[in-house]
Amino acid sequence: LIGQKAQKEGYKAYAIGGFVRDLLLGVENLDIDIVVEENAISFAEKLVKYIGGNLKTYPNFGTATLTLKDGSKIDFATARMEFYPFPAALPEVEETTIKHDLYRRDFTINTLGFKLNSPVFGDFLDFFNGKKDLEDGIIRVLYNLSFVEDPTRILRAIRFEARYGFKIEEQTLAFMENAINNNMLEQVKVSRMADELKLMLVEKTGLASFKRAMDLGIIDKIFGEIEDKKGLLKGMEISNNLLAMCKDKGIPIDEPFLIYLRTILAYCSEGVRNKFLKGMNLEKNNYDDLVYFLTEYQGILEKLIDPKFYSPSQLVSMLERFSNDSLIALTAISGSNLVKKRVFLYLEELSKISVEIKGEDLLELGLKPGPIFSEIIQNVKKEKLDGNIANKEEEILWVKS
Ligand code: CTP
Repeated sequence: LIGQKAQKEGYKAYAIGGFVRDLLLGVENLDIDIVVEENAISFAEKLVKYIGGNLKTYPNFGTATLTLKDGSKIDFATARMEFYPFPAALPEVEETTIKHDLYRRDFTINTLGFKLNSPVFGDFLDFFNGKKDLEDGIIRVLYNLSFVEDPTRILRAIRFEARYGFKIEEQTLAFMENAINNNMLEQVKVSRMADELKLMLVEKTGLASFKRAMDLGIIDKIFGEIEDKKGLLKGMEISNNLLAMCKDKGIPIDEPFLIYLRTILAYCSEGVRNKFLKGMNLEKNNYDDLVYFLTEYQGILEKLIDPKFYSPSQLVSMLERFSNDSLIALTAISGSNLVKKRVFLYLEELSKISVEIKGEDLLELGLKPGPIFSEIIQNVKKEKLDGNIANKEEEILWVKS
């Protein structure tokens, strides 16, 4: 349908990028990218009238996103023809624009495409030997300055490497190391870096990518020299295991990436912590929660690591000020089984215990309303947590006594 409409309206449309790469690999990818010559927005506006759906346009970028009724998304981008130092002038006039567009991209495996226009539908585009690299499992840049121009590609390379079990080609690795050593990662805005790190860490192979990033010195460049590298790696491994455990047990987690980030930041200097907290455009509740975690986690860990006995109500009063995400991160950082046992006792059992009597029950007992009400409820909760009260009847009896 898209090809028919493009043909009819005089546009050239191509399916390109990750969608084509994953199609050839037999991997599911529901995010379809379409490049349009000459104007993606005006084409998408015509198309939406034809096939329906909800269209959002971004005139500054020449792009548009169409969300179809079944929830799937199609991204449209106008083919960009920027100046790049091509090894030779392009002889063929016809496909110059799309070829230039594809040349700007990160890796050869992402430059594959096919034509959508109805008469030539399915004609395969492979200007840079991407299909061969895909078959050989190789990640290769298209030009020397690729990582300098866009250092986030350094993280993309190791993300794809782990995701598909591919290898970064030797020369590409050399360009990458060069960019790393020349401090290119430090040029990237914190918010962009955080977005890229998130994409990497939440993949199934995120931990393998993180290890690779540590080995290549990438993490040190992004987060400043990490002194206790072994400790950080262990913390990341445990975070990963605990996240899987929470999923299994149905313990709600807000944002897995921010658990990893808490773990990393715990190993960083004050300056780096502040840089990330300020630069990440976090929502206020996440920001506050992270700040609270970073100021309080050491104090609480000292207590939790101490083998002395804590009653359930004492544990609750220590842990209830932390979000689940923070508790998982501090368990990971501690590396201690005792801390894990205590935190999971809280998450799985103690945090679910609540008081059943309400203000109206206290009124019925003839008590006068006031601050005393919350004090009573607090005390009932303490007794209940410590196993001295089991149900509402016993709560009432306890208040009476
Ligand atoms: N791209 C790039 N440089 C970047 C980011 C993206 O050249 N820093 C290009 C890639 O060629 C990619 C396309 O833009 O194919 C679309 O980007 P994105 O949707 O992030 O990439 P996918 O390859 O689809 O990755 P994923 O499978 O993770 O969605």
